[in-house]
Amino acid sequence: MKKITVWIVALLVSVSSIIDLRSSAQVVPSDGGDTDTGAISIDCGFTQDNLDANGFFYEADDAEFVESGKIYNISSPYYNTDSQEQVWQQLKTVRSFPQGKRNCYTLKDKQAKNNNYLITVYMLYGNYDNKNSIPSFHLHLGVNFWTEIKFENASVIRRKTVAQISTTDYIDVCLINIGQGIPFISLLELWPLSNSIYRASSSLLPLGLITCVNLGVSEDLKFIRYPEDMYGRSWFNGQLENSERFNTSEAIYNEVNEYKLPSEVLGSAVRAKNDSSSLYINTLKLIDFTADNEHYVYLHFFDFEEHSQGQVRSMNITFTDDIREYVDLKSKDVYTLVRRIPKGVLVDRISITSTPGSGLPPMINAYEIYRALPQPNSPTHEQDVATLRNIKHAYSIMRISWQGDPCRPQRYSWEGVTCNYSDSIPRVTSLNMRSSKLTGEMATSFSDLMMLETLDLSNNQLTGDIPESLAKLPSLKLLNLTGNNLTGSIPKALREKSTTGLTLILDGNPRLCQTGSCKTNTKKFIKPLVASAASLAVLAIIVYISLMLHKHKTIAKVLSSKKDGRIKSKNHGFSQAEVHGITNDFATEIGVGGFGKVYLGRLKDGTQVAVKLLSQSSQQGLSEFQSEAKLLSLIYHRNLVSLVGYCDDGDMRALIYEYMAKGNLRNLLSDNNPNILKWNERLEVALDVACGLDYLHNGCKPPIIHRDIKSSNILLNESMQAKIADLGLSKAFANDTDTHISTRPAGTFGYLDPEFHRSGNLNKKSDVYSFGIILLELLTGQRAITVTSEGTRHISDWVNPKLENGDIQAIVDPRLEGKFSTASAWKFLEIAMSCITPTAIQRPDISSVVVDLKQCLAMEMPLESGESSSLISNTTLETSYSQSGSYSPPSAR
Ligand SMILES: *[C@@H]1O[C@H](CO)[C@@H](O)[C@H](O)[C@H]1NC(C)=O
Ligand SMILES: *[C@@H]1O[C@H](CO)[C@@H](O)[C@H](O)[C@H]1NC(C)=O
Ligand SMILES: *[C@@H]1O[C@H](CO)[C@@H](O)[C@H](O)[C@H]1NC(C)=O
Ligand SMILES: *[C@@H]1O[C@H](CO)[C@@H](O)[C@H](O)[C@H]1NC(C)=O
Ligand SMILES: *[C@@H]1O[C@H](CO)[C@@H](O)[C@H](O)[C@H]1NC(C)=O
Ligand SMILES: *[C@@H]1O[C@H](CO)[C@@H](O)[C@H](O)[C@H]1NC(C)=O
Ligand SMILES: *[C@@H]1O[C@H](CO)[C@@H](O)[C@H](O)[C@H]1NC(C)=O
Ligand SMILES: *[C@@H]1O[C@H](CO)[C@@H](O)[C@H](O)[C@H]1NC(C)=O
Ligand SMILES: *[C@@H]1O[C@H](CO)[C@@H](O)[C@H](O)[C@H]1NC(C)=O
Repeated sequence: MKKITVWIVALLVSVSSIIDLRSSAQVVPSDGGDTDTGAISIDCGFTQDNLDANGFFYEADDAEFVESGKIYNISSPYYNTDSQEQVWQQLKTVRSFPQGKRNCYTLKDKQAKNNNYLITVYMLYGNYDNKNSIPSFHLHLGVNFWTEIKFENASVIRRKTVAQISTTDYIDVCLINIGQGIPFISLLELWPLSNSIYRASSSLLPLGLITCVNLGVSEDLKFIRYPEDMYGRSWFNGQLENSERFNTSEAIYNEVNEYKLPSEVLGSAVRAKNDSSSLYINTLKLIDFTADNEHYVYLHFFDFEEHSQGQVRSMNITFTDDIREYVDLKSKDVYTLVRRIPKGVLVDRISITSTPGSGLPPMINAYEIYRALPQPNSPTHEQDVATLRNIKHAYSIMRISWQGDPCRPQRYSWEGVTCNYSDSIPRVTSLNMRSSKLTGEMATSFSDLMMLETLDLSNNQLTGDIPESLAKLPSLKLLNLTGNNLTGSIPKALREKSTTGLTLILDGNPRLCQTGSCKTNTKKFIKPLVASAASLAVLAIIVYISLMLHKHKTIAKVLSSKKDGRIKSKNHGFSQAEVHGITNDFATEIGVGGFGKVYLGRLKDGTQVAVKLLSQSSQQGLSEFQSEAKLLSLIYHRNLVSLVGYCDDGDMRALIYEYMAKGNLRNLLSDNNPNILKWNERLEVALDVACGLDYLHNGCKPPIIHRDIKSSNILLNESMQAKIADLGLSKAFANDTDTHISTRPAGTFGYLDPEFHRSGNLNKKSDVYSFGIILLELLTGQRAITVTSEGTRHISDWVNPKLENGDIQAIVDPRLEGKFSTASAWKFLEIAMSCITPTAIQRPDISSVVVDLKQCLAMEMPLESGESSSLISNTTLETSYSQSGSYSPPSAR
């Protein structure tokens, strides 16, 4: 969302998930909203947001991420525009850290904790400081050593990558000065990964990348990274001796593989010259068996060759005499073999051999090797970390050591902070902020440092009351507040505590009432409360804003109208009180969408509505919420779920949609639904959806591309009228002629245009493809993706062989029990197949699909009365469908 595309139309968000909840017990999480790569890339040393040639977004390097250091340009002799590095522009600037032992970038993803990330740093010295002295330094990931950085010369680009399950809410990447020159950094990237990949088997050890090699492409090909790779990896070309390259140009569904291997990686491979020779990957330099690390080897296979009937490519993969794996590939299998190499095991090469009788030579597409990084240190207790970070921000404390974790590693702990290390998780026991120029009220946050024994805030300019909550700290022994400007009286609880072991030092606060006989006014009790409520609110706002800034910075710049603040639209605006009334105080929750929860409501006139509330922790955020409301109020069509009103009152923001009583199409087609949809109902649903899509594509100027057409986004109302929902990913383009390189994979696995995936080209035909998949679902009753014991199967792979046999009876949903006309089923199938041709250009415009579906419906009309299956033909039909996608329906029906 933060990329090239200027026209972002964020619209309806999954009202669909509403119904998921109600009609089946299972909650299907909405995948509306965020299909951004989610990457955060920081162009270190450059103070503006910018895009590279691929439209990939780089954040400005500012205080949002780092608080220290100086920025520089590298010297021009080191500019290398010919470099294969696509990130070349981003390497022209650096941030260097002359001060302090440890300097950190702090990355706050919206849900960092327990999620998996690929973190990559780049460094190019380029004589940025004109001193021609190349430094060497260390990197830490959080509280532990990551890697050492050294350079052969000033023009070397150093890249380090690590995959890590974050254990904290923040991800700190720290540069450590080891006395061998000033650390610096050129580029820092954070990419979210699936949580199930690149993980050490038994622990949360991060995996440091050693090598990531793509095999089988010609030497002149540049290396592969974003946008081909949506996980932020860089694939380098490699060769294996004694091998030959081969490749395929077939469209590849890389979603089939949880590693999201780029088509370019899957589509090329090497194989042995004959089935009795082997492939060897030399690993002697890659797997350091002398080190105290385990290693992980990932071997990626996609057997794109056609095999003769039932033939299996059976391979014997030998790491050592004791470590051996077997891989059997059927034609079109995608498979990643993960092998852990225990500490101290010498693997000098990996050999891949065909087992006797396989009949096919061994092959491999790509491999990666990672080293598990030991994690001797645990981070400080998270509440202590959060509290200290709050205090730091509340008082704008600029201390060079106050970066990264407060207690760990111990030698870099924060100045003035003392920790107890007797547990594996350190706790803060003392905070000394004497003479630190603190101003303003004394924050109640200090009392969140639960293990605090001494707190010294002496010689500052703190005002207001002493928070009574400090008395709750069980171990507090010394509170030194001398030399401030505190007021009010000493809280009773603190006075009591001072008789049982707490030393209170309060002199030098002329306006503080030290005796017990102060003027009693309620103020002193209320004020701390107000203060704490206020500081909480401020905190919440800061957290919210920083989250939002993070994700939506560019949208803010792009949708300048957002600055209007409050929504103004022709739709009806509701007050907070009205929303409470409509939803009966949010009595009936019917789902969770990208914004937040969705409630059932009823307007005064009795109309049922779905009320979607923007939650504070919303992933979509205010600006998208507002643009959604705005844009939804601009378009209307009977086959789009419509907006009834909105609420933007006080702190409540909600969108109110028409209520779709019958739920979503996916559920209606599922086996759980006893009232299976009749054939003519299915035809009408298809036509409705096509009409809605036609409106978006051809009725709107600029055209709107939905990007997430799928059966769970098709909702039906009481009278079985189908409407498209969840326009949350939609984009409108002012200029259809521009190339719309999409910077993120939009949409849902199973419905994604294979061509979009290869080219990143976003256009109407991607929606047509997804629509074709819905047609197949309607026809067959199958899901777009079926999970079988052998992996996942795409609906087109299920239909194709049957289609080749001309067997329409085997294709049509058996639950229709033959109650459909073969002619219209054929016609319908023909339309569906034309929509899902692999090349976009061969797919019809949705407007002609509308025409064809109407014809199809006309054929079926005689059956409308509902009875008889007399039209069923048992003729086995010949089909002239061919793989190329030029499909002509059989003439004999
Ligand atoms: C880096 O170069 C740009 C353009 O040449 C210039 O505007 C900028 O001031 C330079 N920055 C530094 C820190 O020298
Ligand atoms: C810098 O070092 C790299 C790696 O050793 C080498 O390939 C390159 O030629 C060197 N460049 C210069 C200018 O010395
Ligand atoms: C695929 O193989 C053909 C024939 O060997 C070759 O000309 C072509 O460059 C290869 N494509 C890639 C992407 O390596
Ligand atoms: C297979 O290839 C190897 C090496 O390229 C060669 O030595 C061997 O003779 C070949 N075997 C057959 C059966 O062609
Ligand atoms: C696998 O290969 C190893 C060595 O290359 C060999 O010793 C072993 O017998 C092979 N196993 C099978 C089942 O082919
Ligand atoms: C309290 O703070 C003052 C001023 O910093 C200092 O002189 C005094 O020694 C402190 N008292 C204790 C007990 O630490
Ligand atoms: C203390 O606060 C009062 C009012 O807030 C102010 O007038 C006074 O100058 C302050 N005293 C010092 C020493 O800062
Ligand atoms: C569309 O492109 C044309 C030509 O490139 C340009 O003149 C026009 O201003 C563009 N329209 C918009 C809305 O950007
Ligand atoms: C089709 O129907 C005819 C006549 O009803 C019958 O003789 C024939 O066996 C049927 N064919 C199939 C394949 O069921």
